[in-house]
Amino acid sequence: MLLPYITFIFLILATCRSADTINVHQNISDGATIVSANARFELGFFSPGNSNNRYLGIWYKNVSPQTVAGVANRETPLKDNSGVVKLDNQGSLTLVNASGRVIWSSNSSVYGTNINLVAQLLDTGNLVLKNGNITDSDSYIWQSFDYPGDTLLEGMKLGKNFISGRETFLTSWRSADDPSPGEYTLRLSTVEGKYQQLYIMRSTNTVTRIGPYNGLTLSGRTEFTHVPVELMFNINMIVNKDKMFFSTTWDTAYMFNTIVTPAGKVENSWFKYPKAEWIMFSTLPVDYCDNYGVCGPYGRCNTITAPYCGCLKGFELETSRNNDTSVCRRSIDLDCGTEEGFLRFSSIKLPDTENAVFIRNMSLLDCEVACKKNCSCTAYTNPNTTPGGAGCLLWYGGLIDVRVYPMNGQDLYVRLAASELSRLNSSFHEKKRVVMVVTLLISVVLTLLGFILALYIKRKRKKSSDARSNIQMGSADVPLFGLSKISRATNDFSVDNKLGEGGFGPVYKGVLEEGQEIAVKRLSKSSQQGLDEFKNEVICIAKLQHRNLVKLLGYCIQGDEKMLIYEYMPNKSLDSFLFDESRKSLLDWPQRFHIIHGVARGLLYLHQDSRLKVVHRDLKAGNILLDHHMYPKISDFGLARMFKEDENEAKTKRLVGTLGYISPEYAAKGLYSVKSDIFSFGVLVLEIVCGKKNRGFVHENNDDNLLGYAWRLYKEGKSIDLIDECLHTSYSACEVLRSVHVGLLCVQDRVADRPNASTMVAMLGGEGPLPSPKKPAFFFQQSESNHSSSFPLLPSSVNGVTLSQVDGR
Ligand SMILES: *[C@@H]1O[C@H](CO)[C@@H](O)[C@H](O)[C@H]1NC(C)=O
Ligand SMILES: *[C@@H]1O[C@H](CO)[C@@H](O)[C@H](O)[C@H]1NC(C)=O
Ligand SMILES: *[C@@H]1O[C@H](CO)[C@@H](O)[C@H](O)[C@H]1NC(C)=O
Ligand SMILES: *[C@@H]1O[C@H](CO)[C@@H](O)[C@H](O)[C@H]1NC(C)=O
Ligand SMILES: *[C@@H]1O[C@H](CO)[C@@H](O)[C@H](O)[C@H]1NC(C)=O
Ligand SMILES: *[C@@H]1O[C@H](CO)[C@@H](O)[C@H](O)[C@H]1NC(C)=O
Ligand SMILES: *[C@@H]1O[C@H](CO)[C@@H](O)[C@H](O)[C@H]1NC(C)=O
Ligand SMILES: *[C@@H]1O[C@H](CO)[C@@H](O)[C@H](O)[C@H]1NC(C)=O
Repeated sequence: MLLPYITFIFLILATCRSADTINVHQNISDGATIVSANARFELGFFSPGNSNNRYLGIWYKNVSPQTVAGVANRETPLKDNSGVVKLDNQGSLTLVNASGRVIWSSNSSVYGTNINLVAQLLDTGNLVLKNGNITDSDSYIWQSFDYPGDTLLEGMKLGKNFISGRETFLTSWRSADDPSPGEYTLRLSTVEGKYQQLYIMRSTNTVTRIGPYNGLTLSGRTEFTHVPVELMFNINMIVNKDKMFFSTTWDTAYMFNTIVTPAGKVENSWFKYPKAEWIMFSTLPVDYCDNYGVCGPYGRCNTITAPYCGCLKGFELETSRNNDTSVCRRSIDLDCGTEEGFLRFSSIKLPDTENAVFIRNMSLLDCEVACKKNCSCTAYTNPNTTPGGAGCLLWYGGLIDVRVYPMNGQDLYVRLAASELSRLNSSFHEKKRVVMVVTLLISVVLTLLGFILALYIKRKRKKSSDARSNIQMGSADVPLFGLSKISRATNDFSVDNKLGEGGFGPVYKGVLEEGQEIAVKRLSKSSQQGLDEFKNEVICIAKLQHRNLVKLLGYCIQGDEKMLIYEYMPNKSLDSFLFDESRKSLLDWPQRFHIIHGVARGLLYLHQDSRLKVVHRDLKAGNILLDHHMYPKISDFGLARMFKEDENEAKTKRLVGTLGYISPEYAAKGLYSVKSDIFSFGVLVLEIVCGKKNRGFVHENNDDNLLGYAWRLYKEGKSIDLIDECLHTSYSACEVLRSVHVGLLCVQDRVADRPNASTMVAMLGGEGPLPSPKKPAFFFQQSESNHSSSFPLLPSSVNGVTLSQVDGR
């Protein structure tokens, strides 16, 4: 009775098991595939891109668009779908075409009896040839991981076996349509005894150096650690006298992918099962300083300084008379005297270790002694930054490819002449002394001035008692209000008068005795908006007059109270409509479109048309106020920054702004410019169209953020679907499409791809064709929402409100 059932179960097991293997005398023809045990990878025939050629390959199962992880016949495509894969009983896997010609072969063989040959596709994407059920990788007869393509998979090893001399590395495809080997490779430095670092190379030239290894990861640029913490991403280095290999591992709930593109970029992406959609989080090279050795020997590259290239301290630029090339030379030559010493450089990317010798287990002190002993040793350090990690790197000759990082760099000790060291030291002390004297002088002067001012104000107060008086701040006249007047107007700051809470404190509604309605922004005493931000806002906004900017009526400063008095906006802020389910339908499309235009014009005024060039830095729905007619007015200039006419970009160590609106270059590098506002504006436009917040945006069948979702719809030609459902069909499709299009152009990843304010206003108002947007910078936003610590400048806990993180000065 039971027998049929048992046979049945056995049959099911048998078919399941055979799905990931090819047995001898079994064959796989075009159209059939085999799938790894947990359905992570699939093997079969495919045609890449627009090509009609057929290739035998391995791809990520159920990932769209199809992502190929390995190709067998890279250089020998099949022209039709007659290909068949067979495993012969000699132990080799071959691909033949209709006429029986071998197109590709694993060239492996095995001898002996009692061998149960199978080819199995593992869940790592490794296709292995082995004897029966063994799982020991050293006993594989052949494995595809020994022949990497353009993709690094879990457990795949890049490096060199010094005994066999075989080197494994990634090679880019020639193009998206052609998997044959392209120009670019990603490889581990493979000279025996050298320290580990990765190179992106274009044929035999180094394009970018990644690393060196710091005992845990590749140092400096944290590209390889910008991943969710729970991914438990690990870099493993296997180094001994026989071999040197690099590989990666991660938590099995995730998939991680490193690829060398045909254009020579190394891109890292990941996703979490079951949602199989790539999230790209880093790519290299990204900036000028990623160009290998771009500043020459003893040069250092720093993207924060202009020019980017300079010489290390103790070296100076020498321009050759004959050929106009400059190189860094020692200011004072070495003489190998006993007085010579080392100057410490911090937070840098260590020079190319190709010129260095590594001594395991040596302490930093012994390392210094070792370097000092040999006159040709130019620098030393301990590359291992893990706690307790020891090791000594000694450089002989030029220090190449040094760059300065804002953070995450390492220390390097560079040999300098005795006189140079003492000069640097004394000039340092000199500077310190000068700074001290100047500081002292300034503080004395300031105290005196403050005293005089206090006297002056007191006298003036007496004269005009509590009445309004004008105080000059910068060149702008802003009326000063007395505290008692504000207090009366706001009913003694009663809770009933409170309009809301901003980033820096509560906002109250008030009515002056003359009957004028006002909004009072009272900076909380604990607020980090200090006197500087306060003055900044007063001066900045007082000079700005535009119908799309909120008008400052005055300010109040008394004791430790600081307040700003604005015209009152009866309809509050845009977000109180847009993101409120019960109120959003009050905002119809013509109003929304009008608001988009108004904000755009306000921005144009700020960026280009006012007497100043102002970057707002915190443009968001909460800072767009609406007047009686629902006309928009940009408010909250606490973070605004005035630029000089010729100044285009600035850098900050303080990250301010609101998540969801911050541009990628600002989040990642602290760089901001008018284009950061354009980015925020783009986000705002998309939010206005669809009535949902970018930050925290969730869509039912995927968890893209708003930008990702808008981009997806745009690509599918369905931008119109982005429209807020509450508007039903009462909108102009043409205006909506135009808004979405301009919104996407504004959130481009590259600053240069974003329009400036005047082009943006013209685009919004015009009829003509618009440039096509590229993929926006939405990956940044996405990973940031869960993993803010990935971004060097973001504090670890942040909410929807304005950030005003203060650096330790
Ligand atoms: C593939 O295998 C089938 C039997 O499983 C056989 O009939 C066929 O001839 C084989 N094809 C090739 C090209 O070897
Ligand atoms: C099989 O491959 C050989 C060599 O590439 C080629 O000459 C032949 O035409 C191919 N046969 C078919 C049927 O495609
Ligand atoms: C197998 O050997 C042939 C002939 O020596 C060679 O052309 C081919 O590249 C080899 N295949 C692999 C995968 O090494
Ligand atoms: C492998 O197969 C052999 C016989 O086929 C069996 O004795 C052995 O237990 C199996 N090993 C494992 C690990 O399944
Ligand atoms: C420029 O001239 C210097 C010597 O004057 C020489 O060392 C250097 O190689 C020259 N550089 C180039 C690019 O010709
Ligand atoms: C390195 O140091 C550790 C601890 O001092 C020691 O156990 C280990 O054997 C040393 N390794 C070598 C290669 O000297
Ligand atoms: C200094 O180091 C270099 C490179 O390792 C070596 O060739 C040279 O012999 C050493 N010189 C002395 C005096 O130890
Ligand atoms: C710099 O000067 C201080 C005291 O003036 C001294 O202690 C220190 O060792 C000097 N550093 C170097 C690198 O000479």
